[in-house]
Amino acid sequence: MPEVRIEGYQHVYQALCNPHLKQSLYDAGAVIMADTLLTLHGEAHTRRRHLALRVFQRDFARHYERAVFPATVARTLGHFHGRNPLDLVAFGHSVTMNLTADFAGIDRSGDPEETDRLLRLVQKFGEGATMVHSTRDPAVLTSEVRLALDEYERDFLQPSLERRQRLLAEFARGNSPEDRLPRDMLTILLRNEDRLELSTDVLSREIAFYLQAGSHSTANATVHAVDELLRWCNGLPGRRQALETDPLFLQRAVHEALRLHPASPVAWRRAVTPLTLPSGVAVTPDDLLVLDLAAANADQTVFGPDSERFNPYRELPARRVQPFGLTFGLGVHNCLGRDLDAGLVAQSDTQSDDHQFGTVAALVRIVLCDLGAINEPDDPPQRDSDSVRGNWRRFPVRVRFPQP
Ligand code: HEM
Repeated sequence: MPEVRIEGYQHVYQALCNPHLKQSLYDAGAVIMADTLLTLHGEAHTRRRHLALRVFQRDFARHYERAVFPATVARTLGHFHGRNPLDLVAFGHSVTMNLTADFAGIDRSGDPEETDRLLRLVQKFGEGATMVHSTRDPAVLTSEVRLALDEYERDFLQPSLERRQRLLAEFARGNSPEDRLPRDMLTILLRNEDRLELSTDVLSREIAFYLQAGSHSTANATVHAVDELLRWCNGLPGRRQALETDPLFLQRAVHEALRLHPASPVAWRRAVTPLTLPSGVAVTPDDLLVLDLAAANADQTVFGPDSERFNPYRELPARRVQPFGLTFGLGVHNCLGRDLDAGLVAQSDTQSDDHQFGTVAALVRIVLCDLGAINEPDDPPQRDSDSVRGNWRRFPVRVRFPQP
């Protein structure tokens, strides 16, 4: 299949916003991704996205950051208490798995072994979703994903679904106020105020997709940001102090790390009809368009001659460029979790006491400022050799746990 690679910031930007290009990265992973929000196109996508956006009503991001996040982090930290060095990868995955499950609407008992089980299932879903990159036999992988789906549906989805159906029935009878309903995606999909056709299988895959979408990307982004910041601070206490005393600066530094480490270095698209891209390249539905997000984020014409370096003081061009570049995508499929994870971009008059910082900056702040993390001497972090994304397999840090 002919491949067309798109690299410059403007060209990737335009391709992401082009309504005649449809998602194609997950075609081979249909067993877990078919008919989920990320793979839908056109009217079907607009309608599903409209429904999903209902979860963000009534100041949801603030509620998530101020209520859901602190409780989930405190519980997870409790499970990791005393483990010194702390493996940031394990901690990050555990906390973000629980945060994402809260967002998706999957109830848990809070038992750490249950989190590990959910992580294992979601790992398998991710393997299935990116089947196109796998060297494994697709038939074997497909049956493993089906088994994982069965386990997730039986032990996680079904009990969560039944609890919400009971609460929705109480609400419909007028016996319970609306604000007693859980604020999560499963409740929104079950309530289905837009009356969309959602089969049981689609509902199951949609919630499984949310579990994937939010957890690993957030955990990996957190570890990349801590790594960048520890190296940037190395031996320079003034820099560490700047991060500890100025939460808006810390958030800005996290945005810079997000720019350098997009969760997926590429997005894939396919034209729905023959067309000519603004660059002058003609493409047909047979072509695979590889949108290189990592290259776009390192475009020197936009981010300056040191674009490949971590520089938390980076000045952006006057035109509307986000400090995290195209890491969260753009256009109709732009990341629904962006504001949750990256927070709002501070403006010149932003006050830190009323600001929404985002999950990644909040986690980095806990690790660096509250726990005082430093690299563990003689035990360097290790990259995941199976990942082309440069993610970390282990990231040991020495921390100061607060007294329980
Ligand atoms: C650092 C963390 C994250 C990164 C880097 C990230 C990145 C992305 C990117 C690049 C896309 C677009 C993919 C494409 O156009 O092909 C996307 C879509 C999406 N993301 Fe995220 N994401 C992150 C966290 C989250 C979280 C926490 C959630 C949910 C709570 C989430 C939910 C979604 C959803 C639902 C979509 C699909 C939107 C649509 O198709 O309309 N993401 N994300």
